[in-house]
Amino acid sequence: MAEPDTPQKAPYPVDVEAGKSYWWCACGRSKSQPFCDGSHKGTDFSPVAFQADKSEKLWFCGCKRSAKKPFCDGTHQKL
Ligand code: FES
Ligand code: FES
Repeated sequence: MAEPDTPQKAPYPVDVEAGKSYWWCACGRSKSQPFCDGSHKGTDFSPVAFQADKSEKLWFCGCKRSAKKPFCDGTHQKL
């Protein structure tokens, strides 16, 4: 499996809305981080779906190496 790109070595804070679905970019190529814009086409990566049950601020992984995708788990601190 190819390595994902690293748009940034820090999470992206996002105010998600209850009931909305989000597609987190796993490949790191999207121009609208942290979400998928279709740029993974032709790679081994697919976006990760997340549905918000409540409105809140969440921290989406920007380094693309979290073990708790789509969220930051602190792995970026070791890069
Ligand atoms: Fe990265 Fe779709 S653009 S997963
Ligand atoms: Fe990827 Fe924190 S930004 S683990």
